[in-house]
Amino acid sequence: DKPITITKLLAMHAEGEKISMLTAYDSTMSALLNRCGVETILVGDSLGNVIQGHSSTTPVTVEQVAYHTECVARANTHAFLIADLPFASYGDPVQALESSAQLMRAGADMVKLEGGGDWQVDIIRHLVERSVPVCAHLGLLPQSVHVLGGYKVQGKSKDAASVMLEQALACQEAGAQMVVLEAIPSSLGERITAELHIPTIGIGAGPDCSGQVLVLQDMLGISPGKPPKFVKNFMDGHHSVEAAIKAYVREVKSGKFPGPEYGFAG
Ligand code: KIV
Ligand code: NA
Repeated sequence: DKPITITKLLAMHAEGEKISMLTAYDSTMSALLNRCGVETILVGDSLGNVIQGHSSTTPVTVEQVAYHTECVARANTHAFLIADLPFASYGDPVQALESSAQLMRAGADMVKLEGGGDWQVDIIRHLVERSVPVCAHLGLLPQSVHVLGGYKVQGKSKDAASVMLEQALACQEAGAQMVVLEAIPSSLGERITAELHIPTIGIGAGPDCSGQVLVLQDMLGISPGKPPKFVKNFMDGHHSVEAAIKAYVREVKSGKFPGPEYGFAG
């Protein structure tokens, strides 16, 4: 298969084909996701939870994301690779560009950062002007958990929903080519997706996003503790990890996942 580029992803989006994304942190899983037809792999700072055992993503460093990006990139045959800029690694333009360069040298095709406030929009514009492809991340922002006081559904009030829509438009205007929407009402996921021309990738944002993402260990049902409401265990009814991942791709593509039971009401 040919490498999947941003051009290909934007074309898929334009044709209404859903985009599948999963996280990976190592080469074994990277190879498997490629074999299963996952189009985009995210080396998420969720590695702080999944790999390192922290209770939040805030301890994760750029060096650690870069290391896992290298591991994933080595086995990546054609998926589009996105790496997370971790907490406090993009606080000013100089730092943001240096952090992004580290991730791109490690093999990332795009970097992702959290938030759509004025300062994040300035950072996005700074990076894009310097040829760093950027994915924004709105809704629940795990790097802000200590400010939010927990992992909560975002954008439920009319005002919060309008602010999020404005932020999504501002990120797009600044040059972001994709946006992850996490833990928001399905109706807001639908609305933001309709207003943007870049693809939205949802995680707990309803079925109308342009694509879906889950943390790999969550969708395999092996993460400790009670999973978030938006997680479906794809090992249910499947005999192998490969079959589960293929089922995920199939259900994202057909729109079967996420059904209403995995979404949030407004
Ligand atoms: O870090 C991560 O895995 C993420 C996804 C949950 C979107 O940001
Ligand atoms: Na993340």
